[in-house]
Amino acid sequence: MKVAIVGSGYVGLVTGTCFAEVGIEVICVDIDQKKIEGLKKGIIPIYEPGLEEMVHRNMKKDRLKFTTSIAEALEDCEVIFSAVGTPTDEDGSADIQYVINVARDCGKYMKDYLLIVTKSTVPVGTSLIVQRAVQEELDKRGLTIEFDVASNPEFLKEGAAIDDFLKPDRIVVGCNSPRAEELMKALYKPFTLNGHPVIFMDITSAEMTKYAANSMLATKISFINDIANLCEIVGADINKVRKGIGSDSRIGNKFIYPGVGFGGSCFPKDVKALIHTAEDFNYNLRVLKAVEEVNDDQKSVLFNKLNKHFEGKIIGKTVAIWGLSFKPQTDDMREAPSLIIIKKLIDAGVKVKAYDPVAMNEANRILGDTIYYAPDQYDALIDADCLMIITEWPEFKFPNFNLVRKLLKEQVVFDGRNIYEIDEMKRKGFTYYCIGVNTTR
Ligand SMILES: NC(=O)c1ccc[n+]([C@@H]2O[C@H](COP(=O)([O-])OP(=O)(O)OC[C@H]3O[C@@H](n4cnc5c(N)ncnc54)[C@H](O)[C@@H]3O)[C@@H](O)[C@H]2O)c1
Repeated sequence: MKVAIVGSGYVGLVTGTCFAEVGIEVICVDIDQKKIEGLKKGIIPIYEPGLEEMVHRNMKKDRLKFTTSIAEALEDCEVIFSAVGTPTDEDGSADIQYVINVARDCGKYMKDYLLIVTKSTVPVGTSLIVQRAVQEELDKRGLTIEFDVASNPEFLKEGAAIDDFLKPDRIVVGCNSPRAEELMKALYKPFTLNGHPVIFMDITSAEMTKYAANSMLATKISFINDIANLCEIVGADINKVRKGIGSDSRIGNKFIYPGVGFGGSCFPKDVKALIHTAEDFNYNLRVLKAVEEVNDDQKSVLFNKLNKHFEGKIIGKTVAIWGLSFKPQTDDMREAPSLIIIKKLIDAGVKVKAYDPVAMNEANRILGDTIYYAPDQYDALIDADCLMIITEWPEFKFPNFNLVRKLLKEQVVFDGRNIYEIDEMKRKGFTYYCIGVNTTR
């Protein structure tokens, strides 16, 4: 079976490479010519652990190809996955124009039966729009060609994307034809051999499942951040509270780590889009609105602590920042809390010296010369008045504290991810702030 993947970004490239890894012939398409030219030479446009080796291996075996031409990709292709972006539109809804463009391209160039699978995160009802767009293009060509649409939302996590794709907790497929169901079963068989289920359902439910999943995870994060803020006020320790509640299997210990708010390419936009969908149907999604509000405020928490520590006299100060990507093991800076924090610092007249193990280029693309890009984590500390931890990269967890103390002008650490022990930091001579514990008492 030959499969085409349209959109060779975080999801499309991982999807295509993992299908190739299990022996399927894959062709990845993107409209970004530079990206495709690079990929043809084996240059990977994103940082994702393990992806580079896997792309190279499958290119060598001739199972993974790249093109900018959807017409070329559709030659002898039975299944096409659409994994293009669905960014937030001005009104908060998901912008599905790229998904519709792909549907139109399918209608323009398909020659035989085609199963068109939407892997992008799209609002309820998008599959119908896709179906109409394909049909309109076929009608323009005066052709009758059978096709099916399906929804197959993706649940991979950046930073662990390959593992998530090869060993998924579950695969969700929404479709309404036996032929589509058989094709999807066959495609995913190699990924389900060790018991991970493919859950088939109607298309509307599949589309909703993705938003509900991301919204649930975002809710857990905003919930723990809200509780963390209350802990600081009442004198409780969120680190202990988190352990106390996480050991209850009904709650679980994942996604209840306090921090500087959630970011990334998915949670913020998907929460917004689901609120918008609800509004379209005259329903008020109160919980998710609160989730968004808490998250927006949480991105200011570290800045507020800094401002309070220096008693509002922060103009001319220099802050060293460790971690820029929205989470560790990725270079993705989309909606990263670091961007909001850095903007606040710069607007307040503070200089920023930042270091991230992989996101420096991405950060430079967005922030330009507004900050100093340190070649390593210790260089960022030179002449800085304090250190801020924004992303919990493993290499920040056990730094050379003697060197940190020596390089900083003042031994002050604002830890937005609670990666250090409070007592240990005090013993080492630091004034230490974290999230959800009032360390100044
Ligand atoms: N990034 C994640 O962790 C993740 C996880 C699950 C689901 N998703 C969803 O998957 C979708 C893709 O996300 P992403 O992060 O991979 O996006 P991305 O921005 O990294 O990649 C999208 C790619 O699509 C290409 N593209 C746009 N229009 C095209 C067209 N007409 N033809 C060919 N290529 C086209 C772009 O050039 C880009 O390379 C989104 O809906 C997102 O919400 C993302």
